[in-house]
Order: sequence, then C-alpha cells, then structure tokens
Amino acid sequence: MPGGLTFRPSANIAEMRESATIAVSQRARALKAAGREIIDLGAGEPDFETPEPIREAAKAALDRGATRYTAVDGILPLREAIAGAANAAWQGTDRVTPAEVVVSTGSKQSLFNACMVLFGPGDEVLVPTPSWTSYYEMVGLARATAVEVHGDPARGFKVDPERLSRHATPRTRGVMLNSPSNPTGAVYSREELRAILDLAASRGWWVISDEIYVRITYDGTAAGALDVAERRDNLVVVNGVAKAYAMTGWRIGWTVSPLPVAKAMTALQSHTTSNATTVAQHAALAALTLGDPVERAVRAMVDEFRARRDAALPILRAAEGLTVLPPEGAFYFYVRAPGAGSVPDAGSVFATLLLEEEGVAVVPGLAFRTPDWIRISYAAERSQVLDACRRVVRATEAMVAR
Ligand SMILES: Cc1ncc(COP(=O)(O)O)c(C=O)c1O
Repeated sequence: MPGGLTFRPSANIAEMRESATIAVSQRARALKAAGREIIDLGAGEPDFETPEPIREAAKAALDRGATRYTAVDGILPLREAIAGAANAAWQGTDRVTPAEVVVSTGSKQSLFNACMVLFGPGDEVLVPTPSWTSYYEMVGLARATAVEVHGDPARGFKVDPERLSRHATPRTRGVMLNSPSNPTGAVYSREELRAILDLAASRGWWVISDEIYVRITYDGTAAGALDVAERRDNLVVVNGVAKAYAMTGWRIGWTVSPLPVAKAMTALQSHTTSNATTVAQHAALAALTLGDPVERAVRAMVDEFRARRDAALPILRAAEGLTVLPPEGAFYFYVRAPGAGSVPDAGSVFATLLLEEEGVAVVPGLAFRTPDWIRISYAAERSQVLDACRRVVRATEAMVAR
C-alpha cells in the first residue's frame, strides 16, 4: 500500500483533550527515570495499601472460582449491599432496589455511562467549575455541551442556584455535582446541596452526583444527594471503592439511579465492557460488608489525610503571594498560583517551574478549567508532602521577589 494510512481522529474524539492529570504524572515519571528525585503530588490516588481483610476476601473469592463472567450490572450481593447503603440515606417510600444499581469498571465508567445515556447532541450540561477534568470530556463524548459555571473562590468555588440559573437555557438537561470536590476539597452543606437539588427538580434537570470522596471529610460528615433530596427520579448517584478504601486499581464503581436509566446503562455496558472484573466485585463486596476491620482502616486513612492537611496548610499559608483554599474533604490543596492575574495560564507556568526547578509534580488548574490555579495532592507520605510544600513556598517567594 503506497504511503500507509494516516490516522485522523474521528468526529467522536475530535474535541477530546488528553487528561492533564495523567500528562503531569507521565512527565514526572520521565524525569524520575532520568534520575531526578521527584515528589509526585499530581496523582489523585490514596498512597495506602488496600486494607488486608479486603485483599484476603479477594483471594478467597478467587479460590472459590470468582473467575467467570457475572451479570453485566454486577453480582447481586454487591448490588444488594449498595442498595442497602443507599436506603440508609434515602428515607423516601420508593426504596432503592438492587435492580437500580449498576456496578461498573470504576466510577469513571459509571459517570461515562450516565453521561452517554442521559445527554446527547444539542443538550447542555452545567458543570460547576473548577471540576474534575473528565466531566467536560465525558459530556463532550456524549456530543453534548459542557457549560462551565464558575464558582466564587471566596466560597471554595461552590456554586448555588442563582449562579446555575444564570447559565441555564432551554437546552439545559443536567448538572454535575461533586462534593467533596476534586480539585478544591470543598464540601457542600446539606442546605447548599438541597437548594441545588430543588432547583434541578423544579427545572426537570438530571443530576449526576459524584460522591467518590464522600467518606473522606475532616470536620464532620458530608451529605450525599440521597441524604437530602426530596425526590430521586432525576438523580444518578455515583460512588465507588477507589478513594475511601484505597482500591484505585481494583476498578469498581457504581450508580444508583431510577430503573429505566439503570437499564439503559446496563445495555450500554453490555456492548462495551460487560461486567466489572469478577474478583474485584468480590473485593468491593468485602469492603462494604466486613464492617469493623475495614472501617477501622478507613478511619485511620482519613485521620492521616487530616494530619497532613493540618501540618501542611500553615506552611503554605505562610507564603506571601499564595492563596490556598482550606480543604474540608478529599485530599487536595487548591492554590492560586503566584503571577495569576498578570501571566496567562499562571497555573501551568508555576506547575512547570515547580516540576523542573523544585522537583515537585502538581496539576495545573487548566485541567479543571481554572488556569490561574494549581492542585497539590497530599496523597503521599507526610514528610514528602511537607517537604514539597516548603519547596512550593520557596518557589513562590522567589517568583514574588523577581
Ligand atoms: C471526582 C472524581 N470522580 C471520579 C473519579 C474516578 O474514580 P474511579 O477510580 O472510581 O474511576 C475520580 C478519580 O480521580 C475523581 O477524582
């Protein structure tokens, strides 16, 4: 064949951007491979091992033969456990049934499934901004339009009904929520969440509530959508085991949604990945049902995240020229880069400087559609986090002095 075939991205992915969070990790890895010492605070992944009782349960499941296909939407005991937890939050008379639960390959797939079945060409979806990078891309892959609704930095970038309404049009079909938030660590109060859910219900919008960080909070518990919603016929709640149980690599997430939505997502999944990995489903079942031994491990992890936050925050805050949002949940500091306001894409400029000169990998805020900011993860060993924060301060002071 003369010349070979030239690859041109299809219309499906023409607008898709590379995941900037992954790009930073790759660059950090390349520098490490070249012999540089890098503190990687780019990753959104707990730095703990999956608790031992979960690993043991997975081994036992393998030995019992958990090696075959399961139902596309997941094994029944896992869906029962998820429905049970949902019913502990949801007090409505329409109890959540296991048929309304779809287990997927990570909450990432759950979010993708939901976007694909709910939204399509011509639809607009409100995305409180900054938000996790993949929401924008997933809405785009569904050929819908992600509408950025920028929050107020003074309120941890949280949005409210008034801000959302300002961006609504007759084409608005849904809104993405994420509390606690990646990248800001902000947590919506019950009242704040309820107000947004009420607005969505009154406007006939779908709500996709990504609650992957709901167990990781520092000052009390975070409300989930089912805790406060008046109705759930427009609600898709997304969660998974990755963050709370340090199970990122197991790839188990799920949705709780009205039955027709669950059926559509199951059909979609049946043509793409089928069931999530069988043994991983058994591990997730152990995480949700073993009780005390696992819960102790979760508490210990959250305590450690809190200790890191409490130790690192004063270091960052002491730097002149740095604005830091105090996280109430998740495990990220969202920091306004020095130079913001005078340099375009100040977050990327600062992130590059931090990586190349200080050996600290962070994620530029551009990934979350707020280019003046950077995200610093503290899912790394405490001494490393503190060391990295001192380097961030040093780089900031050097920039301010210039
Ligand atoms: C807000 C948010 N939602 C979803 C995910 C995906 O998690 P999972 O590993 O369950 O696919 C992440 C992971 O970084 C995240 O930060």
